[in-house]
Amino acid sequence: AAQPLDGPGRQFRTYEDDRNATSQDTLYTTSNGVPMPHPYETQRMGSNGPLLLQDFHLIDLLSHFDRERIPERVVHAKGSGAHGVFTCTKPIDDLCLADIFSKEGEECPMSVRFSTVGGESGSHDCARDPRGFSVKFRTKEGNWDMVANNTPVFFLRDPAKFPHFIHTQKRSPSTHLTHADDSTMFWDYLSQNPEAVHQVLILMGDRGIPYGYRFMHGYSGHTMKLVNKAGDWVYGQFHMKSDQGTKFITQEDSANFSPDFSQKDLYESIEKGDYPSWTCSWQTMTAKEAEDLWEKQRINVFDLTHVWPQKQFPLREVGKFVLNENAVNYFAEIEQIAFNPSHMVPGIEPSADPVLQSRLFSYPDAHRHRVGVNYQQLPVNSTRTNYRVANFQRDGNMAFYNQGARPNYLSSIEPISFRERTVDLDKVHGQFTSDAITFLSEIRPEDFQAPRALYERVFDEGAKQRLVNNMSGHMANCKKEEIIKRQIGIFREVSEDLASRMEKATGVKGYDGISNLRFNGTHNGMAAKASNKAAN
Ligand code: HEM
Repeated sequence: AAQPLDGPGRQFRTYEDDRNATSQDTLYTTSNGVPMPHPYETQRMGSNGPLLLQDFHLIDLLSHFDRERIPERVVHAKGSGAHGVFTCTKPIDDLCLADIFSKEGEECPMSVRFSTVGGESGSHDCARDPRGFSVKFRTKEGNWDMVANNTPVFFLRDPAKFPHFIHTQKRSPSTHLTHADDSTMFWDYLSQNPEAVHQVLILMGDRGIPYGYRFMHGYSGHTMKLVNKAGDWVYGQFHMKSDQGTKFITQEDSANFSPDFSQKDLYESIEKGDYPSWTCSWQTMTAKEAEDLWEKQRINVFDLTHVWPQKQFPLREVGKFVLNENAVNYFAEIEQIAFNPSHMVPGIEPSADPVLQSRLFSYPDAHRHRVGVNYQQLPVNSTRTNYRVANFQRDGNMAFYNQGARPNYLSSIEPISFRERTVDLDKVHGQFTSDAITFLSEIRPEDFQAPRALYERVFDEGAKQRLVNNMSGHMANCKKEEIIKRQIGIFREVSEDLASRMEKATGVKGYDGISNLRFNGTHNGMAAKASNKAAN
């Protein structure tokens, strides 16, 4: 429909105009709005001659087409998303001053993007891969992004390893083939980095292929800090439990799913009003409890290869979100959405977890590259605060909300207002527990505690057998026996039963354990005494 031109600012289009676009009352035009008689009309000399440079319509058309692609996400490129609303059901204001958790019944608009990790944007969304689970809560005090996964742990605790591990799942630099054809690089990395074994058992077990995105949980994985009004803080991990329950696809059955199954399943369920929802909880512990957990149980809260035992640290429910709105335009609302772990609101602070600390840098860096310096101004990334956002960032490519005529420096003539900091940063960040930093690259016996409990106590006989089948099937594409021998040595530290089943299934005799192994760039804290020097 024609835009009313009544009053300042209304001569510009708003995003709502675009979202409501239909084919009715439209006119075909060039990008500057000039009516064109036909999209296929080209200006040329005579009936068979060359084209004319003055033909803006054709140049406009082709040059925009030439620029349609932006870089896909370097990881998590294949994804699906939707919008919805979070409702606080049980305020936690004793623990956290964040506005979003402070009042029962308080609603907060939000968006979610689910994804696989390794594949490209056209890859299969039922791949055996962790799932990304990103949430943007548009709170009254700015956007809070929870950039989570569907697994509570991760492959590494040293951020420097992340690009290496990811590269093992990208196309080979020489053959340009994916690891579907060759799992050598994947297992080579894992057999050199035993701290990944907990995540490997989850990924290769029944939970490795979720049934679409509706039937899976989300976990911050990282330890965060929650700060209350008194300035006291606790460590916290965020959990999002699917109200649909969990459902998984077996390796055999996965061949029957189309490459866009998860996208279709999410989109269609929302379209028909079957809205998926998740219940959100915090798991918390005090600094003292974290120190005790390290001293007594060798669980380091800054190490995301470990989980916090739920019996000791129960979940405390705080709210629920429902996804009830599909994107109208996928590119504008899902491809260009930018989730960032460093988007935190007052009351939520980062812990000293080194992987989290690195992610705080990496995501906005990626967004400036992938979307552009003014990515925060795009409608899907912009805020819904109850005050007008003001700062002194100006200009740059595609500046849209450039803050009008306001002075672009800290002016005493037209001052802006400031709010006192609600969190005493010295108090919250002045204290770090345990020896997380030196711990980073060293493999220790406690790295096998949780995977052992998972294998021996959680997996039943059928789950164990499927795990072994999945892994030995995957390893059939691993071209080097030495890698399999090492990986079985790592499994032996988890459980003798797992190692011997893997030996049977692969026909490869593995190492006795890891005490005589050396790891690329990783300190072996379990090296045999006699060979300690050599192994380190
Ligand atoms: C996406 C880096 C670990 C969850 C990304 C992106 C980068 C990145 C650069 C693409 C961002 C974009 O273009 O928008 C890293 C680094 C890590 C790391 C350097 C470790 C050092 C993790 C962990 C989790 C995680 C531990 C979960 C607990 C995600 C998710 C996305 C993502 C869910 C997709 C976000 C979306 O849907 O747009 N990561 N990542 N990453 N990462 Fe990580």
